[in-house]
Amino acid sequence: MIQYPELRRALIERVRYYRELGIYDFYRREPINASATPLLEEATLRESASEHREEMPRKSAVLAKPVESDPLPVLTVHPEQNVADTVAALRLIREDLGDCTRCKLHQQGRKQIVFGVGNPHADLMFVGEGPGADEDTQGEPFVGRAGQLLNNMIKAMGLRREEVYIANVVKCRPPGNRTPERDECETCSPFLMRQIAAIKPKVIVALGAVSAKNLLAINAPMSELRGRFYDFMPAGARSSDPEWQGAKLAVTYHPAFLLRDPRQKGEAWKDLQMVMKYLGLKPPMPV
Ligand code: URA
Repeated sequence: MIQYPELRRALIERVRYYRELGIYDFYRREPINASATPLLEEATLRESASEHREEMPRKSAVLAKPVESDPLPVLTVHPEQNVADTVAALRLIREDLGDCTRCKLHQQGRKQIVFGVGNPHADLMFVGEGPGADEDTQGEPFVGRAGQLLNNMIKAMGLRREEVYIANVVKCRPPGNRTPERDECETCSPFLMRQIAAIKPKVIVALGAVSAKNLLAINAPMSELRGRFYDFMPAGARSSDPEWQGAKLAVTYHPAFLLRDPRQKGEAWKDLQMVMKYLGLKPPMPV
């Protein structure tokens, strides 16, 4: 917690200033020492210190303390931020991800990172939870049994798999296909947000509760999440296109859940029909 009102105000001002410049995301730097405070000029600190000295003459020495224990954020501009070419932007995001070791999934048996696949200019994007065994082996999302069902769902919407973009919240396989843990989702989802900002889809379909909750930052049951559109703007990522006002987001059941409980397929079809209506898609003619 930043305890000094002046310091806090100065920080808020600075963050507002960066927002106006179109810079939204900040990362914390490891605590070092008071001389390494990147965003507040020394003058601001001195000003703050002298003001507080009036009120708390014997506490001026503690000024460095909140700075040390709660370091100020460091600004990061993503390499793709002003790259209008979506393919190049996605390549930069993939490069930034690198051979990722940011969360514990990298040491828990993943074979490879599963970044995403499909049309970089897609109007429609599907977001799942995380790669399973088949995806981990092939390096592509939704290629196993759940993927076959997702392909059928896409086909029923009058599209081909190659026409949409498919990605996951986490890019590495959780061991034993367990649900990705909160810290894993929090570490990985900024990359998903950046993919979305680069692709600029019209509609995102969140597949299952893990995807929906991570994208929407809402903790609610599927029954409450489904059946409506949400306005979605990727958190902490900025599109290179000032015209893009974000996507509509719909939530439906995860295909793996539908394989376990096929009675819910009708409900999922209602969700997809809502998306089709919005995108002006017609189901394919029966052959
Ligand atoms: N389940 C997911 O959530 N994603 C995949 O890529 C495969 C299965």
